[in-house]
Amino acid sequence: MNTSTYSRALVAVASLLVLLFPCSRGGMTAMADSHDHSVAVDAAGNIRVPADYRTSYQFLGSWSVAAHQGQGPKEFHTVYASPGAIAHYRKDGLFPDGSIVVKEVFETATEDMTTGTVSYSQKLKGWFVMVKETSDRHPGNKLWGDGWGWSWFDAGDPTKTTSTDYKVDCRSCHLPAQTSDWIYVKGYPPLAE
Ligand code: HEC
Repeated sequence: MNTSTYSRALVAVASLLVLLFPCSRGGMTAMADSHDHSVAVDAAGNIRVPADYRTSYQFLGSWSVAAHQGQGPKEFHTVYASPGAIAHYRKDGLFPDGSIVVKEVFETATEDMTTGTVSYSQKLKGWFVMVKETSDRHPGNKLWGDGWGWSWFDAGDPTKTTSTDYKVDCRSCHLPAQTSDWIYVKGYPPLAE
């Protein structure tokens, strides 16, 4: 076989593989995305806000927290999930290991616009980040437990958490969501069938 026949044969085999397994590459990519901790977690289990979540993650939903007085909410919360997490949750009611959920917390502004009295996100206060990991990969790290890593980040510092212990900083507030994998799923239309 000369070189060009050989390379033609290779191309033919490659094309056949693509025809036979059209989804395998996409499937692998989606899995790698949703299982890849490294974008948000270092070897010691320190979490950071994933840099590209606004463009590469999937939108889950939003919340507004009513102000004690005055018009409009005092905060908006906007929540994103890493690629693949939604599809997996819809199948079996659990987020797969490696899933990352990011919640942005905004101060709001409220003013009259042509649609009425309207509130919108004005100033980012920071992020809550949760990273799914059911194996005990970071024993002794107090920001991991109940199947997740948990951290808060002030707006100025997406790489260094101010949280020290999820049992104090997060857990009791998330207990009402324990049966839905610790996530407040009722606010997220994409998770419903
Ligand atoms: C005061 C109670 C409270 C505390 C403390 C709290 N959470 Fe939450 N969290 C909630 C509630 C309620 C929601 C959904 C409604 C909302 O955003 O207002 C939520 C939503 C979230 C979300 C979006 C996904 C979901 O569960 O719906 C993430 C991520 C999150 N919290 C992470 C954390 C982390 C990490 C900590 C600790 C560093 C923490 N939270 C501390 C009450 C709390």
